Amino acid sequence: MFKKSLVALLVAAIAVVFTMSAFAAKGDVAKGKTVFATNCAMCHGDAGKGDGAAAAALVPKPRNFTDKALMSKKTDDDLFKVVTKGSPNTGMAPYEKMLSEDDRWNAIAFIRTLAK
Ligand code: HEC
Repeated sequence: MFKKSLVALLVAAIAVVFTMSAFAAKGDVAKGKTVFATNCAMCHGDAGKGDGAAAAALVPKPRNFTDKALMSKKTDDDLFKVVTKGSPNTGMAPYEKMLSEDDRWNAIAFIRTLAK
């Protein structure tokens, strides 16, 4: 009896740790802000609203990262994939060779602060 609940407790504890690490934000927001301002803001806008200087000429428009309803449907891995591989037939280029993996995660950490 005691042993069984101990095992259950252990399993629960491990599950909590795994869940926490799965949701733990990868990337550094402050660094991501700089990466974003330098590489992304001309299209996505300084505040991530998709209204950067180059956005007017783009079809489709850059994503509005402040749109909470939209952004909450995307996982960090979804975003990472687009930043890494780009989005075909759009202005969104692959940043696989232009930014380190860390900087791609940093940019995503910053993007995640925009939809509040
Ligand atoms: C030349 C303009 C341009 C630049 C620069 C740019 N993007 Fe984009 N981005 C776009 C467009 C346009 C889309 C929309 C693509 C689509 O509709 O599939 C997009 C989409 C995205 C998405 C997908 C969001 C979603 O809803 O799936 C992410 C994430 C993203 N951009 C991140 C970045 C980051 C990070 C940078 C800088 C490292 C960056 N973008 C630079 C134009 C740009």
